[in-house]
Amino acid sequence: MKTQWVKGLQPGHDVATYFGIFDMSIGKTKSGAKFLKLLIGDRTGTVEGRVWDPALAEDLYRELSPGDVAIVHGTVTEFNGLQVNIEVCLKADKSELDLNDFRPVTERDIPEMRAKFTSLAGRVSDPHLKRLLEAVFTPGFLDSFSTATAARQVHHAYGGGLLEHTLEVMEYCSKVIEVQGERLNGDLLLTGAVLHDVGKLWEYDQSGLTFRRTGVGQLLGGHVILGHDFLREKLAEIEGFPEGLALHLDHLILSHHGQREWGAVEEPRTIEAVALHHADLMSARINQVGQMVKSHKGPDAWTSFDRRLGRSIYVPEKKAEQRGDGL
Ligand SMILES: [Fe+2]
Ligand SMILES: [Fe+2]
Repeated sequence: MKTQWVKGLQPGHDVATYFGIFDMSIGKTKSGAKFLKLLIGDRTGTVEGRVWDPALAEDLYRELSPGDVAIVHGTVTEFNGLQVNIEVCLKADKSELDLNDFRPVTERDIPEMRAKFTSLAGRVSDPHLKRLLEAVFTPGFLDSFSTATAARQVHHAYGGGLLEHTLEVMEYCSKVIEVQGERLNGDLLLTGAVLHDVGKLWEYDQSGLTFRRTGVGQLLGGHVILGHDFLREKLAEIEGFPEGLALHLDHLILSHHGQREWGAVEEPRTIEAVALHHADLMSARINQVGQMVKSHKGPDAWTSFDRRLGRSIYVPEKKAEQRGDGL
């Protein structure tokens, strides 16, 4: 269990806890002695680490790699910012730890989102779609799904982001079902919302401390194709799944990005596919802009220009907060 967090470190503190290793290199002091420079951290931030014992520095440089988690014992000092002088550093077994302690993570409560996800998905009453969802979301699968990221950057790019985004899309789709009623197949739309980004489990390296695209993710068409392939495999396991329904569901996955230049294999050509695409876009965009607003600092009322979005965002209330006049 992690007991100390980077955010709470103060000069003079003794440290004895797990940290992620984000970067490491060998340096030399003025007298020529080798030391190990590390960037260690957790979900609250990163801090420089130093191993001054030359023999230990070389051993650790051989034994550890960025992406590992280690138990670190040391003392916090102040030298151009905080620094941890490390006396002991032992590689830990990542499989026994919650990786989301060591990387950016959702601000929302994962067990609470998981409960909502299960209850909303439970509204699907079509027996075939119900069987499909039960076949996919085994407890182990749901565990991996709940801690995964939805992206490397742009939107929901943090542990738990895939669940948060999927839940938002499901909630937006539920609203569409409420408003549009009989005009669309609600069970189909909701199932599409649940499954639309499932391929992200394999598109991104979900076991690392930083989220990178996997070889499979880069070479095989990203999560749209990976999700579609996964769905095909699962459908083949379910006896008597109607071909027409499978075709609709396939189309939902393949078209959810809306446009070919955004990664869709096909443009949405059913009413449910149009609805899913807009729900997906709404969740992604609001999160993207929300992150820009949240990370915006300084007295300017405009965020810096976002290349992907093609614009800056107006944040007048931040400026007012900083002026302290509330205007
Ligand atoms: Fe997607
Ligand atoms: Fe999505």
